[in-house]
Amino acid sequence: AVEKRISDLLNKMTIEEKILQLNQYTFGVNSNPNNIGPEVKGLPAGIGSLIYFSADPVLRNTIQKKAMEETHLGIPILFGFDVIHGFRTVYPISIAQACSWNPELVKLNCSEAARESVLSGVDWTFSPMIDVSRDPRWGRVSEGYGEDPYVNAVFGVASVQGYQGKNLSDPFSIAACLKHYVGYGMSEGGRDYRFSDVSAQSLWETYLPPYKACIDAGAATVMSGFNDISGVPATSNYYTLTEILKKQWKFDGFVVSDWNAVEQLIYQGVAKDKKEAGQKAFMAGVEMDMKDNIYLENFTALIAEKKIPISAIDDAVSRVLRVKFNLGLFDNPYTEIVDEPSRYLQPKSKQLATNLAEESMVLLKNKSNTLPLSSKINKIALIGPMAKDKENILGSWSFNGKSEDAETLFEGIQKEIKNAAINYALGCDFDGVDESGFVEAVAKANESDVIVLCLGEKKTWSGENASRSTIALPEIQEKLVSALKKTGKPIVLVLSNGRPLELVRVEPLVDAIVEIWQPGVAGGTPLAGILSGRINPSAKLAITFPLTTGQIPTYYSMRQSARPFDKQGDYQDISTEPLYWFGHGLSYTNYKYSPVKLSATKINKNQKITVNVDITNTGKVDGKETVFWYISDPVASISRPVKELKFFEKKEIKAGQKVTFKFEIDPKSDLNYFDSTGNKILEPGNFYIYVGNEKVEFELTD
Ligand code: IFM
Repeated sequence: AVEKRISDLLNKMTIEEKILQLNQYTFGVNSNPNNIGPEVKGLPAGIGSLIYFSADPVLRNTIQKKAMEETHLGIPILFGFDVIHGFRTVYPISIAQACSWNPELVKLNCSEAARESVLSGVDWTFSPMIDVSRDPRWGRVSEGYGEDPYVNAVFGVASVQGYQGKNLSDPFSIAACLKHYVGYGMSEGGRDYRFSDVSAQSLWETYLPPYKACIDAGAATVMSGFNDISGVPATSNYYTLTEILKKQWKFDGFVVSDWNAVEQLIYQGVAKDKKEAGQKAFMAGVEMDMKDNIYLENFTALIAEKKIPISAIDDAVSRVLRVKFNLGLFDNPYTEIVDEPSRYLQPKSKQLATNLAEESMVLLKNKSNTLPLSSKINKIALIGPMAKDKENILGSWSFNGKSEDAETLFEGIQKEIKNAAINYALGCDFDGVDESGFVEAVAKANESDVIVLCLGEKKTWSGENASRSTIALPEIQEKLVSALKKTGKPIVLVLSNGRPLELVRVEPLVDAIVEIWQPGVAGGTPLAGILSGRINPSAKLAITFPLTTGQIPTYYSMRQSARPFDKQGDYQDISTEPLYWFGHGLSYTNYKYSPVKLSATKINKNQKITVNVDITNTGKVDGKETVFWYISDPVASISRPVKELKFFEKKEIKAGQKVTFKFEIDPKSDLNYFDSTGNKILEPGNFYIYVGNEKVEFELTD
């Protein structure tokens, strides 16, 4: 029925109306209330989409009414916005979410984010970001699910399902947008908007798989990246946008460019002017032009000059209309107005934010069981610029988040830990050179039994256009650690940041480290629960923490060195190992892994192997353990990664309990690999499965 409605509508549309559908305007970006009236008036009637920098559903309805009633066909506008880790209820940033290894929770938070978005007039989010990223200098590592393609696929699918619900037309569903297609995470040197040398092999093996998984899960839209792929910009790349996405994968939604990415084709050196940039982007497969108005201003001429065929315009418009029909916008173009208090921060969303924060805070170090804090502690020195912070803790891309909604770490600790007095001192700012606060911080530390030192990054240090040349803490913060170390008191370092940090100088000085990332509105109570022992930490890293910035890139699935003996060729001045590998994360209990059991050690390609491992919680507290199943293919026609994650599972294990974890190896999905043209290759030979500290060999026969 939708296809019939699309073609009926298409038959009635003029060329000008079709071109309008392919454009996205920005609305309310300067958020000056005096400009709203003129801005609404200035909107071209019948525009396809708006980036809606407003949370006002009444205003949306006014704008929508114009489109519905003052244009001859009444095509609704699609209101899009960056709802990245929550709308008003701000959840932990995406890299933190991945560290929870709990995709079900991520799905639930995305569906709550969708509800708040719908009630604010937003139909479409520019999320999830599923760019595999292995360079923590890049500001955008905070927005994705880390270094592994499979993990990006799993969490990408969970968020698509959360945003889009069972059916896009459900009242609280919004359309998802997979970004930034494709290879953007490869940005050279971690700089944003830069050249990226994506080989055909890494394109297929690393960058495309999360997109394929999310397209299969029904993602409605895709955003093209700012980067290029072997010299061809992602926004004018026919091979990735049309050959792969639309022809091979049968994607029937539409592609929107990134902000200014069409015009950027000029600066990337593939178009001489805006007109040519528009033609190249569109003919490669970008149906909607975000913000540039290049399509709007040039397509009438390009069609007349036969540089763009009308059949391509019709296909593009059909794709945009399809998403609008599927969302139910033609039948329900307006937002239902509910009063503001019941729109946002409902108990369910706040609870989800708390649960996700609890499960995403990673215990990186815990020397001599410094944590949980002993109940005998009388005084805690709570120090550092993050302790009372209400702004940076929300993380980047939290436009609709409000600092007054955020619980500080101080508040959470004060509420939870009743037996100890809190001795607060700022110590220093996030950066700068002012050490005058050190004296008070040291004095407070001297009076206390333990120091909880809250350091990290400002939210503006990650996100778009927010790369750093070094990922260390600023010098002033490192100096504060050294000053406090001299007190001899145990130090619990709490880190809130948007990327892995270089901790090589700081780590030896502290007794425990809790990585809380940027947890959003509900950071304080989960941290306090971990400090007190009410919560047993269960998060593990979804991205490696290199030892130094110079060790980047370091990721678990690197290929084998050509000279692995005695670590030849590695850096002479530092260890080969990073500080914390992908998968690292401590708990307050111990898990004992039984020897791995395989149902067979020799199979052919039509058979499967079931692998089991029993895990016993041998400690005194209940916990949740995540088991990672890796496979390696040591001899193949091309050099393969040292190991690749194929499956993970997180389960609760009560103290003393034994739980069985299971994984089924299917040669057709677990033992094959992509070649550089996208063919899947399955070669017989010996393979290894890794789980816990075990490595077991098995054979695939002809
Ligand atoms: O969605 C974002 C994208 O991730 C980066 N550039 C701007 C877009 C719209 O705000």
